[in-house]
Amino acid sequence: MDKIVIIGGNPLNGKIKISGSKNSALPILASSLLTKDKISISNIPNLSDVTSMFDLLKSLNVNIRKKVNSIDLTSSTPESFFAPYEIVRKMRASFLILGPLLARYGEASVSLPGGCAIGTRPVNLHLEGLAKMGVNFKIENGYVRGNINGRLKGTTLNLDKVSVGATENLIMAATLAEGTTIINNAAREPEISDLSKLLIKMGAKINGFGTKKIVIKGTRSLKSCSYKIMPDRIEMGTFALCVFGCSGKVELENVNEEICVHLKKIFKPLKSLKLKIFKNGKRILIQKDADQEISLKIKTKEYPGFPTDLQAQLTSALLKTKGKTEIIENIFENRFMHISELIRMGAKLNQKGSKVIVSMCKKLKGAEVMATDLRASSSLVIAGLMAEGETIINRVYHLDRGYENLEKKLQSCGAQIRRIRS
Ligand code: UD1
Repeated sequence: MDKIVIIGGNPLNGKIKISGSKNSALPILASSLLTKDKISISNIPNLSDVTSMFDLLKSLNVNIRKKVNSIDLTSSTPESFFAPYEIVRKMRASFLILGPLLARYGEASVSLPGGCAIGTRPVNLHLEGLAKMGVNFKIENGYVRGNINGRLKGTTLNLDKVSVGATENLIMAATLAEGTTIINNAAREPEISDLSKLLIKMGAKINGFGTKKIVIKGTRSLKSCSYKIMPDRIEMGTFALCVFGCSGKVELENVNEEICVHLKKIFKPLKSLKLKIFKNGKRILIQKDADQEISLKIKTKEYPGFPTDLQAQLTSALLKTKGKTEIIENIFENRFMHISELIRMGAKLNQKGSKVIVSMCKKLKGAEVMATDLRASSSLVIAGLMAEGETIINRVYHLDRGYENLEKKLQSCGAQIRRIRS
């Protein structure tokens, strides 16, 4: 298993090109199952989660052709409509093929994802929504088996909880349903809008994406289109927090204005972190000014709130800041696996239930640590960059699920970080 070795203490200065969004790419790739026509997608990040989605789609008879700047996907009828445990257990987003398969073929058999390092993560909202659209589900041997005679039926779906994945699965399913589907209490994440824009280019009729009420008028078939995936806002936020933790000045390229404005808003409480958006919104400068004492309370929330996917990185970035910050995790029940590793490096963290209090630590020292999930891994990278001496991060395959060339991008800004392959 690869390891990452970091010698901490350098400020970061340079330019970084942001990759396409992982959380957009996965549902967008799953959408290829909705049509027999070719869809051509660009700005797909090179990540192991994307490779897992390709493997799954190939097993469902999707032809995938890599071109210089884009990837063509053409989906023909598969022999079976089956997503095996070996793929779903590696990547929960595999569950996103359920809606498209049921909508196009009226049949699907998908392994239940089970729990993961950050919590139980049920899929009840996906299943309840699809059941209300007419699907009969059976759960057998760890698999969800769904079928429907004819087309899905449009209806009003009131989600009990805001869920990104359920909203995406239901939007995709509703595009080919008979009649109109209304999703109330829908997730408003920019990745939902990105998916909706792709589907509209494919001929779907979707209104209200980006709000809590999404209305989809079903159509009989969808068609070919080309689409460019939006930049990864979590990657952007991670680099901004690297700069906050290490000091310096880093320009992020290949971004978009809407995300820049959002990041500026969520990072406003970190007074010494300055974000300057360039005129066309395609570049943003992240700069750390002289340290200021801060005492904050930050809660993770659904978009447009502070994202849970940046909670671990925020914790690391604050380790050496004067003051006390209370971070409350509201989305997942067990997203604190990084805490004990950070404490091994000298961090002053006190976690109780869904809350962690970050106090200033005078000496953060490198150590050998273990990555436990994707975002916990990047929080260890940030801590390693901030710490004195050497940090060795084990199990970096977690990092490779969601960050493209992380160590190369950081090296180009002066970080001493390298990968040991094994
Ligand atoms: C997506 C993101 C992930 C992010 C999360 C929250 C992708 C591929 N992943 O995950 O990076 O951390 O949104 O922003 O886009 N829930 C239920 N029942 C369900 C579904 C969800 O109770 O059927 C709960 C979950 O346990 C969690 C909350 O709803 O507490 C939000 O989860 P959800 O938005 O569905 O997360 P994902 O789509 O899995």
